[in-house]
Amino acid sequence: MPRATIVYASWTGNSEEIAEYLAESFQKLNVDVRLSECQQIDAKDLLDADICVVSTYTFGSRGDLPDEIVGFYFDLEKVDLTGRVFGATGSGEEFYGYFCKSVDDFDKQFEKTGAVRGAEPLKIELNPSEEDEKRLDEFAKSLLDTWEGLKK
Ligand SMILES: Cc1cc2nc3c(=O)[nH]c(=O)nc-3n(C[C@H](O)[C@H](O)[C@H](O)COP(=O)(O)O)c2cc1C
Repeated sequence: MPRATIVYASWTGNSEEIAEYLAESFQKLNVDVRLSECQQIDAKDLLDADICVVSTYTFGSRGDLPDEIVGFYFDLEKVDLTGRVFGATGSGEEFYGYFCKSVDDFDKQFEKTGAVRGAEPLKIELNPSEEDEKRLDEFAKSLLDTWEGLKK
């Protein structure tokens, strides 16, 4: 059974809700899921996963990373995740500009690890709507399909 690890940073709960929904999507696809708050996990723990996902919000005056995920962000580029698949998602608000910039930042950071992008970055306004839940189901499927493709 493939293993996915979802790491999240969430202040008001939206990115956590995204992470939790995504965990259910993976479970429906028979993927074993580990869900972890970003301060409760080391970047090197991702070595145990086949599929690595970050769900984060964006904060500050210039679309900054949340303070609590900065350490994980910089540790990530030091880990060799060759043979794994990654995806980045999370919550933001168009109102602030730099919409979901932290999602793009993680997408780029994951590229440095040698892992393969399994889906385009998925940005969600506040908490997931029904439409977003469909997008999250597709996101999970795309990550899994990419991982299965790597095994061939
Ligand atoms: C001071 C402040 C700055 C913010 N800056 C941004 C931003 O630059 N880009 C963005 O997309 N959202 C921004 N947001 C919105 C949050 O990312 C959004 O409310 C998100 O849903 C919070 O996610 P969470 O519930 O997981 O904490 C900002 C919110 C606050 C309060």
